[in-house]
Amino acid sequence: MIGRAALLAPILAGLAPTVAGAAVNAQALTERTFMPLACLLFGPTVSPWWLNMCKPHLDLVVIDLRSAAEYAESHIPGSVSLPFEPISAWSQMGPGDLLLEMPPSADVFATLGSVGVSNPNPATKIVLVNGVGNPAFPQAASPRVATTLKYAGISEGRVSVLDGGFPAWASEGLPTTTVVPTPVPRTYTATEDRSFLVNISYVAANINKKHQGIFLIDGRDKEVYDGLVMEEWATKPGHIPSAVSLPAKNIWNPDGSWKSPLQLLGMLRGAVGYNVSRSYGQIIVYCGVGGYASSWYFTLTRILGFDNVKMYDGSAQEWSRYYDMEM
Ligand SMILES: *[C@@H]1O[C@H](CO)[C@@H](O)[C@H](O)[C@H]1NC(C)=O
Ligand SMILES: *[C@@H]1O[C@H](CO)[C@@H](O)[C@H](O)[C@H]1NC(C)=O
Repeated sequence: MIGRAALLAPILAGLAPTVAGAAVNAQALTERTFMPLACLLFGPTVSPWWLNMCKPHLDLVVIDLRSAAEYAESHIPGSVSLPFEPISAWSQMGPGDLLLEMPPSADVFATLGSVGVSNPNPATKIVLVNGVGNPAFPQAASPRVATTLKYAGISEGRVSVLDGGFPAWASEGLPTTTVVPTPVPRTYTATEDRSFLVNISYVAANINKKHQGIFLIDGRDKEVYDGLVMEEWATKPGHIPSAVSLPAKNIWNPDGSWKSPLQLLGMLRGAVGYNVSRSYGQIIVYCGVGGYASSWYFTLTRILGFDNVKMYDGSAQEWSRYYDMEM
């Protein structure tokens, strides 16, 4: 019986605020050492209150992807600074190299180890914290890094994004600090996972195949898709033939929080019709250089649960060098 009581204790402690209701005062709550049950739910996004409540109970690495200056001004206590660029871009670019390709995996492993992420250690979870802006590039940083972490062999269930980013945390009045923690370096090595990445020949072989259930999604702004605006990294205006437009900036509400799964699914169906489902068809996402493609990759796979999604990281930058674009 004692054994069973010990097993139940953490569960009961988690339930205490609900079952005991008013009997549990604020003092008791702050002194509680057992993990609330809600902390077991680690979805693709977490809310600020969840992070604040669960941070002390989990082996959690909170990574702040904003600029070093933003981080220095104010950040979530215990979070480490890893501005977007070093983890998600090549450390050294040569002439003619594509922008924002997945970096060499050894670089990613070293960066992750330096901020205290280890592998294999299934208990370590990672929460990514982004800024919010318009254009939505700050919001897109988290899904890009999440995609990079997948490529670096971290199972997706261990990575989550703070919904609404740092501004949501701050606007809820949760504690912030200027104290910079010193992460304990750990060793991270894994097998890189390129299974979800496709190259230009794969895309070339799969354009104009909507009738076979293969859909190309262009995550850039509509004017860019239409060829009215040309981004500096593309060599031709327009989009990859047979792609549909689904601007990634519409994934988020104006405050940088994620739209609801139903809204997102509605957007997807509005663009590709009803012929794509979780069990049928394939979606290939791309954009200008790969950032917004990652936003859709994360949204489709993690938030909507599609597993038939591929990402073309070379995107319009690479495609426009070798093939025609459609207007
Ligand atoms: C492109 O990807 C295909 C698999 O989809 C592979 O067979 C091919 O070798 C790759 N091409 C290059 C140049 O890497
Ligand atoms: C979409 O699916 C329906 C059946 O569910 C089929 O009749 C139709 O031809 C499909 N359309 C395309 C464009 O593949």
